[in-house]
This record gives sequence, structure tokens and C-alpha cells, in this order.
Amino acid sequence: MSIVRPVARVRGRVRVPGDKSISHRYAMLAAIADGVSHLAGYAPGADCAATLACLETFGVAIARVNDADGPRITIEGRGRRGLRAPARALDAANSGTSMRLLSGLAAAHPFRTVIGGDDSLSRRPMRRVIEPLTRMGARITSRDGRPPLTIDGGELHAITHEPEVPSAQVKSAVLLAGLQANGRTIVAEAVPTRDHTERALEAFGATVGRDRHRIAIEGGQPLHARDLVVPGDISSAVFWLTLGAGRPGSCLDLEQVGLNPSRTAVLDVLRRAGAEIDVRVDDERAGEPIGTIRVRAGDARPFEIAPDEVAGVIDEIPALAALAAMTLGGALTVRGAAELRVKESDRIAMLARGFRALGLSVEEYEDGFSIEGGPPAGGEADAAGDHRLAMAFAVAGTAAAAPVRIAGAQAVAVSYPGFFEELERLTGDGR
Ligand code: S3P
Repeated sequence: MSIVRPVARVRGRVRVPGDKSISHRYAMLAAIADGVSHLAGYAPGADCAATLACLETFGVAIARVNDADGPRITIEGRGRRGLRAPARALDAANSGTSMRLLSGLAAAHPFRTVIGGDDSLSRRPMRRVIEPLTRMGARITSRDGRPPLTIDGGELHAITHEPEVPSAQVKSAVLLAGLQANGRTIVAEAVPTRDHTERALEAFGATVGRDRHRIAIEGGQPLHARDLVVPGDISSAVFWLTLGAGRPGSCLDLEQVGLNPSRTAVLDVLRRAGAEIDVRVDDERAGEPIGTIRVRAGDARPFEIAPDEVAGVIDEIPALAALAAMTLGGALTVRGAAELRVKESDRIAMLARGFRALGLSVEEYEDGFSIEGGPPAGGEADAAGDHRLAMAFAVAGTAAAAPVRIAGAQAVAVSYPGFFEELERLTGDGR
């Protein structure tokens, strides 16, 4: 249980943990590259630790050192199709990205891999990866389309895949399998999703053919070890952007944040909600732009997330709901977001339950919700085991009339282990 107290305004600079999506990908590609890779700023949360533990079960040698910029990881690549048969089941813990992407790697190896996870992950849909990987030649059994997955991999052949739901995880699973398959694998996306896998493959020396809606990879390309720096995670930064936008008189600088255009749609949504956002790109590393985001509170306005925008801000919706909840004059409606129901929790139901418990009015739809402007009264909200809900309720709590208690707050460790310490540092003088 964590308690958040109201604050007037916040000012300062923040460095957020390394990007979770990029960390998973760099670790997996390093594992199948030739040579030794070093990754700085690797995401410190439990999800990316689960990926490393799974790779170790595949026989990959990994060393970890903690420094000020987060974990530094050394990975001894085993080369293309060089993973070893795991002696025990892989545990993806709470991490959908680990399970889905590792399934793509496992499918190309001539042995059996069993991969499971915690209760939340065991409820999440996996047919979206089972179907294309099976078409490529893997044999996969599951518990009615859910984990654990038993994957009998081997020689794969290229396919063209058109995912039914926009999903970077599905795209990436197919591309990772395609890299190790015979022929040219194509993923055709109706709605473009984050493209870190494509950029990371190029950074590790592969050639990827792509335009906005089609990504093609020729199988059999070797990867070469790299020394890489993981940018800060914009999906973690968004909680501070919300804090800065939602407390009048605030100004925060988020430094060394990843600014890949496939992740920055949230900044436009924040501007529509009335936040003043300035972005400066300082650098580009391994194809990933990095820079500083300054947020200042503006005049809160009601805002919407339209169905065609959802894929671009899917992980940021809890934080955006918190912004609406913080401000008189705010309000948010989201439609076309049924995917939220199959995230780390049923994020529509659990978000509605949590914000109602804090005194807000929330209407729930099958594919979204509407939340009315705040501020919250205070009270107790349950994070429902979901890291992003814990952080959303915490940030909303800074604007509440009375303290907010968050049950299950330890869930933040999935993506942001030091979140509550950082919140205390930023808000300590503002009360
Ligand atoms: C991710 C893709 C998204 C996102 C998840 C991370 C990734 O999931 O919600 O947190 O790293 O590829 P989907 O691919 O299921 O949309």
C-alpha cells in the first residue's frame, strides 16, 4: 500500500528508466547475434528481467552490473538459430512482450520450448502469435489460446501476415521468426505500430525492407553484436508529463527520453488536453531519436482519443485518464480501445473501478470509457496488479482533496521500480 498526498505544483528534471520495448528487443537480438553485446540503460523493471532470465534458460550467458543509468548488461550471442534446448519451462512472469517475442525465436529452433507466466499473463490471448508461427511451420499447443505455450520449433518458411489487431508484439514475433526462416517474410499492418524491432534489426546489421504498412525480412541474415544505449521510456515519462500538466504552475524536464515517432502520439494528445509541451531532439542512437520533453501546465480542456489513434497511445491511456481526473475542466473519452481489456489487467474495468473509488464519475463501454474532470476526492484505489494503473492512480492522487491510498502499489516494479521514490522527490517540497 502506498499513500499519495496532494501537492500544489512540481518543478525539476527527471530521468526515466530505459525503454521497456527497446530493452526486450536489444536483449533478444544480442542473444542470436554473433559476438558479445553491451547494453547500457537497460530497463530495470521485472518485465525486462524476465526476458533476460528466459534467454539464460536458452543457454545465453548474461552478466549484469548496476550503474547510475540503470542496469548494464553483457550478452554473449549464440549466433543465428544457436539457442540451446531449455532444460525447464521459461517464465515470462507478467510480460506479454517477453512471451510473444520469445515465441518467435523459439519457433525457429529444433527443440521443445515451454513458456508460461503469472496469473495475469496466463489470461492473455496468444492465438495472435500461435496462428502465424504455426503457418510458418512450428507446432504450438496452448490452453485454449492462452499460456502456457508449448512450442515445437524447427525449419520455418516465410509467410505474409496481416495481423487482425494492430500489435507490435505480433509483428515482432513474426519478424524474429522470419529472420530465421527460409525466404522473405512480410508483415502487412493496417495500422502502423511501434517500429523498434525494425530499427533494432537494422542496428544489429540486418536489412529490413519497409514502408508505412509493410515490413519485409529476408531469412538467413546474420546479426552482429553491438554496444547500445537504451533511451528513456516515454511510456514511463508520460506519468510525469501528466503530473506536470495536471498541477497548475508546474514545469518538468524529462531528459534522455526516446522520441521514436511511432511512440510520440501521446504528446499531441497531451497538447489537445491543454498541456504545454516542448520537444528537443538531442541525439539519435542506433536509429532511435533521443531528447528532452518539457511540460508545463496549461488550461485543462476535455479531450478524446479516437479509434484510429488508439494503437499509438495504447500504453499511455491510464496516464491520460489520470490527467482528465486531476483537473476541473478536463474530461476524456476513449473509443475503439477493446485491446485495453486484454492488457496486464482489464484496463477498462479496473481503471473505471479505481477512479470511481477516488470519487470520479466514469462511464464504461465495451471498447472504451469516459471519465469526467476532477479533482478526485481521495480514498483508496486498487492497482489490480497492473503497474500502469498503480502509477495513474498515484499521479491523480497529487491533485486530490484528501490522501489517496493505492493497494497493490508494488506492481510498479514491472516497469518502474523507483517510481514512488521519484514521486516523493518531485513532490516533497510542493506541499
Ligand atoms: C509492446 C507492444 C504493445 C504494448 C506493450 C509493448 C511492444 O502491445 O501495449 O506494452 O513492446 O511491442 P501490443 O503489441 O499487444 O499492442
